[in-house]
Amino acid sequence: RRVVVLISGNGSNLQALIDARGTEEGLGGDIVAVISDKADAYGLERARQADIPDRVLSPREFPSREEYDLHLIRLVEEYEPDLIVLAGFMRILSPAFVLRFHGRLINIHPSLLPKYKGLHTHRRALEAGDNEHGLSIHFVTEELDGGPVILQATVPVELDDDESSLARRVQVKEHLLYPIVVRWFLQGRLQLLGNHPVLDGQPL
Ligand code: GRF
Repeated sequence: RRVVVLISGNGSNLQALIDARGTEEGLGGDIVAVISDKADAYGLERARQADIPDRVLSPREFPSREEYDLHLIRLVEEYEPDLIVLAGFMRILSPAFVLRFHGRLINIHPSLLPKYKGLHTHRRALEAGDNEHGLSIHFVTEELDGGPVILQATVPVELDDDESSLARRVQVKEHLLYPIVVRWFLQGRLQLLGNHPVLDGQPL
């Protein structure tokens, strides 16, 4: 089974997926390409280190989001993926892209959705005085950060937290959980039926 990972930055979640390949359970498939919208994304270096083909598709070369996304669809399809994993890909995807890959497109978002869709989630959790924060892994639909949730995990918010300490605590869990969800999907245990994620035949 084939996975394409889309990134824009550091790629620590990509690294977690890369590292999962070497564990006893494995990832359940191959990462066949890493695609970034930014040429300087550190995750591209991680892909090279792991001998995974890396590609850059810069939005600057395209007149509109729609044009960009049509090329992105084409680029992704070159690799014939079973699953497309968004791992810190910081662009909103057009309906054309989302519909094209419906049911095989997942994202990780650093908040307890439906709380804090969009950016600056750690700051917003701190500003709201939440004592709990976390992450969500979800299928991607046309609604930004609104697709059906597969798995969530919480972390405590400590009194002396700032954005970066809280982000670090969330990321530790991201790196544990994203490979698990990817493995579920690649092993055929996880699917999207209608608008409902189903794991081992049970609605989540
Ligand atoms: C993660 O926190 C993820 O939840 C969000 O973007 C961040 C990406 O981090 N979507 P990295 O590039 O995987 O290190």
